[in-house]
Amino acid sequence: MRKSFLFTLILILVFPFSLYADEIKIGSCIYRFNDAFMLRFRNAMSAECEKIGAEIEIADSQNDQNTQNEQVDGFISNGVNVLIINPVNRMEAQPIIDQAKAANIPVVFINREPAPEMLASYERAYYVGAKAEESGTQSGELLAEYFKTHPEADKNHDGKLQFILLKGENGHQDMILRSKYSVEAIKNAGIEPVEIASAIANWDKLQAMNIMNGFVMSIGPENIEAVLANNDEMALGAVETLKNSDYNKGNSEMYIPVVGVDANASALDAMDKGEMLGTVLNDADNQGMAAVRLAVALASGKDINSIGYEITDGKYIWIPYQKVTRGEKN
Ligand code: BGC
Ligand code: CA
Repeated sequence: MRKSFLFTLILILVFPFSLYADEIKIGSCIYRFNDAFMLRFRNAMSAECEKIGAEIEIADSQNDQNTQNEQVDGFISNGVNVLIINPVNRMEAQPIIDQAKAANIPVVFINREPAPEMLASYERAYYVGAKAEESGTQSGELLAEYFKTHPEADKNHDGKLQFILLKGENGHQDMILRSKYSVEAIKNAGIEPVEIASAIANWDKLQAMNIMNGFVMSIGPENIEAVLANNDEMALGAVETLKNSDYNKGNSEMYIPVVGVDANASALDAMDKGEMLGTVLNDADNQGMAAVRLAVALASGKDINSIGYEITDGKYIWIPYQKVTRGEKN
């Protein structure tokens, strides 16, 4: 008796989903495949599905909301049990919610947060992501810490921090809140931030490279004291441009601290080489795992409070950010 009870308990602990996950078909859309962070996210979802034996089909929405809506239609008519959606435009999530609701299947949004009233319009709509303001605060703190411990970083000796801001896609919560809270954190650390230039580079390395090139030419690298980028790809674009001007080549003489968000492998690599100051871990592994577990629990009618991630306000799973410098976590 006791033995078999123990055995069942172990089975439940070790294989919490294996008893039913193999029945579940997940349809997922990613806003565009050609995004370094979303690639990590996709890999994490696939890995978790493999582990628990759920089936997942992931579609590339190619940065087009109409394409995505059609993909959702297709998934629904093919009889998926649940949707995991990374909206192209988070403000246009309502039609997807309505489609899911009409088909009575749950929908888990990821990475691009629909407005609360949209999520509220369907009891089976959820969001898995990270608190954008947290990443902003942490990246600003990283820069402020550096500025305080490196007096030479104040190149014009005015006690203020002259910085360039590279922003993600317009309207994305991570663009709005990272921009705001990174600057706020510098202020809160007792340093006056001065934005000398800013531009939208749409999360993209190449766009950031070109924009940064324009700034370096018009402002002069000697007048730039820091670069705050809303993500690592744009930070790496800035680093690339600075390297072309003989800055940030790993020797401390000619250096402008550049901070990103995500902790993508390429950024960690640049940090190890001394080309980039720091980043903030955007935990794709946990976000992907949480999204799949939530989706499977919803689709199979299991208790969503038993998936190993806390549900907040009945609709959200928030995965924390973490500061990262020089390959080490703070
Ligand atoms: C990431 C970016 C990514 C974007 C896509 C953000 O959370 O930091 O790197 O491009 O999500 O929506
Ligand atoms: Ca200064």
